[in-house]
Amino acid sequence: MTLAEFQQTQLPLVEAELTDFLKQHTTDPRLAESMLYSVAAGGKRIRPLILLAVVASFRKELTTGVYQCGAALEMVHTYSLIHDDLPAMDDDALRRGKPTNHVVYGEALAILAGDGLLTAAFQLLSQAQLANDEKLLLLQLLAEKAGSQGMVAGQAADIQGEHRQLTLEELEGIHRRKTGDLLLYAFVAGGILAHQPEAVLQQLQQLALHVGLAFQIRDDLLDITATAEEVGKNTHKDQLAGKNTYPSLLGFVEAQQALVAELDAAEQLLLVMGQQLVFEPALLQEILLKLRM
Ligand code: IPE
Ligand code: IPE
Ligand code: MG
Ligand code: MG
Ligand code: MG
Repeated sequence: MTLAEFQQTQLPLVEAELTDFLKQHTTDPRLAESMLYSVAAGGKRIRPLILLAVVASFRKELTTGVYQCGAALEMVHTYSLIHDDLPAMDDDALRRGKPTNHVVYGEALAILAGDGLLTAAFQLLSQAQLANDEKLLLLQLLAEKAGSQGMVAGQAADIQGEHRQLTLEELEGIHRRKTGDLLLYAFVAGGILAHQPEAVLQQLQQLALHVGLAFQIRDDLLDITATAEEVGKNTHKDQLAGKNTYPSLLGFVEAQQALVAELDAAEQLLLVMGQQLVFEPALLQEILLKLRM
């Protein structure tokens, strides 16, 4: 199956879990509207896609529980975007090709929509159709990667680093947490859902470290090269905001080289996994190919 076919057949099942859950479990109509607005605005869904692709690569069945886990991850990611766009954070007016949540619903409801999505993610995952021991691992990992040692910590460091030149090591640490950690969840949760042993989860983690860093370097490059139409958000903003980025620290060409190096390393690891394990790397190889620019 090609990636396009996989996306077309599988992602709607994640989206159904996502929207059905929010509709059923949100009592305030305007809050529900605001949460569903950002979820339905689209987005590439790369995190649930990776999660499903990892499970499928191990030739395991995609069950309701797997879709629910992917939906929970996309809820956390969407919340992170709503809050990232707030005036007090990156102050962005366009997201996923639409006005940002706070522009449409006001800051207070946007904050609450984010709070609601984050909480709903854990509620959905805790009720997912999965074995309890597996579910506990998935919940713990999501808390760790989303929270104050993961994505939230990275966002805090990103904001505090504005208009201050960081070292490359510091910046890499920010990227790994603010962006890498939710992507890491996608890979490792996929491995947990495919019942893989600890050693294989470690390999998935190594793979995810490269993909996570690559993803944010690419986002930093796109802020310079892409139009708002192409990426669904306003570009040319990082420099004005005084953000530390790969291009700002290394220059554009070296940042491009860093992206290629991370993607090459990830592809190499995929090949090794394909040789060592019952693992079909084609879908993930295709996802990596899309990250080249
Ligand atoms: C945007 O993530 C924020 C970053 C981590 C760079 P995506 O590029 O995955 O955004 P959507 O989900 O497609 O809107
Ligand atoms: C955001 O990084 C990462 C998140 C955790 C949301 P950016 O601030 O660069 O993402 P965009 O460019 O607004 O999507
Ligand atoms: Mg940001
Ligand atoms: Mg931003
Ligand atoms: Mg960006």
